[in-house]
Amino acid sequence: MLVLGVETSCDDTAAAVLADGRKIVSNIVSSQDAVHSPYGGVVPELASRQHVRNILPIIDAALKQAGISLGNLGGIAVTRGPGLVGSLLVGLSAVKAIAYRWNIPYVGVNHLEAHLLAIFLDREIPFPYLALLASGGHTLLYVVRGFGDYRFLGGTRDDAAGEAYDKVAKMMGLGYPGGRVIDQLSKSGNAKAVAFPRARMKKGSHEFSFSGLKTAVWHYLKESRGGTPPAEVAASFQEAVVDMLIAPTLRAAIDLDIKDIVLAGGVAANSRLRAKMTEAAAAEGIELHAPPPALCTDNGAMIALAGYHMLQRGLRDDLHLNADADLTL
Ligand code: KG4
Ligand code: ZN
Repeated sequence: MLVLGVETSCDDTAAAVLADGRKIVSNIVSSQDAVHSPYGGVVPELASRQHVRNILPIIDAALKQAGISLGNLGGIAVTRGPGLVGSLLVGLSAVKAIAYRWNIPYVGVNHLEAHLLAIFLDREIPFPYLALLASGGHTLLYVVRGFGDYRFLGGTRDDAAGEAYDKVAKMMGLGYPGGRVIDQLSKSGNAKAVAFPRARMKKGSHEFSFSGLKTAVWHYLKESRGGTPPAEVAASFQEAVVDMLIAPTLRAAIDLDIKDIVLAGGVAANSRLRAKMTEAAAAEGIELHAPPPALCTDNGAMIALAGYHMLQRGLRDDLHLNADADLTL
């Protein structure tokens, strides 16, 4: 069965066609980075307007690249939340109109669920697995027990990991979004150059915290007045984020005796996180799985994947479905 996946929860307009819940037939992402970069973050109103311009051409492009027309689709999946409400409404309204006109079953998908399952676009792994979802808006730890069966373990108490990357990049004048830039810049820096603090959570907690680190970087930049090369600051900051993502995640896997950890969300594209966590997990007899970077960041293929499994369970949405900016899992 061919499923079209549509994603417009934040600043990327994305559409993909997926065959039988696993094979990517086409996958198109139109980034709005250039639109938001001058502001150092996503401007919601600009994002919605950009989605309005992009949505139909991107859906057309995904169908064309797949060599199919709407009539070949067995279903459509679209992100219904969480995210920016104006952005979500563009994708959802477009999909409702197409589903109605062509009489195609459709489902609204939880964006977080799609990230948690994205690994299946790359490989089959057994349930249950532990998933760390780290993106611009979220840092969450879940046990994935099956399709549609998720147990929340803990999240961030303050900033999301990606938000910390974006804010530090802004402080350093590196542009938006900051994660990829800091990742690149850090490759030429010494991660031990600056001893930034690591937040320590209470024993047994599966929580994260990044605001203290962000403040520490701010003070350091102010006091050092550009005296330390940016690559050293970036690498040291990144090492602290990576350590603070690894510790609670590994602790949870050991406590729950889970042998597979999955990385998801934009921050999962981080090269240092992938390398250091693979090593730390292996030392405990745990395997780390991370989708290719392009499937970690927002994309339509993961929405189609989550939607495919909902459709398989007989789920359908009607035209009353609304976008939900604060949707939880
Ligand atoms: O999942 P995503 O594409 O969108 C959200 O749902 O938020 O994640 C975007 C976040 C941004 O904060 C971005 O800076 C971060 O992921 N990011 C990275 C990397 N690539 C993207 N963070 C660290 N290293 C990267 N290579
Ligand atoms: Zn996302």
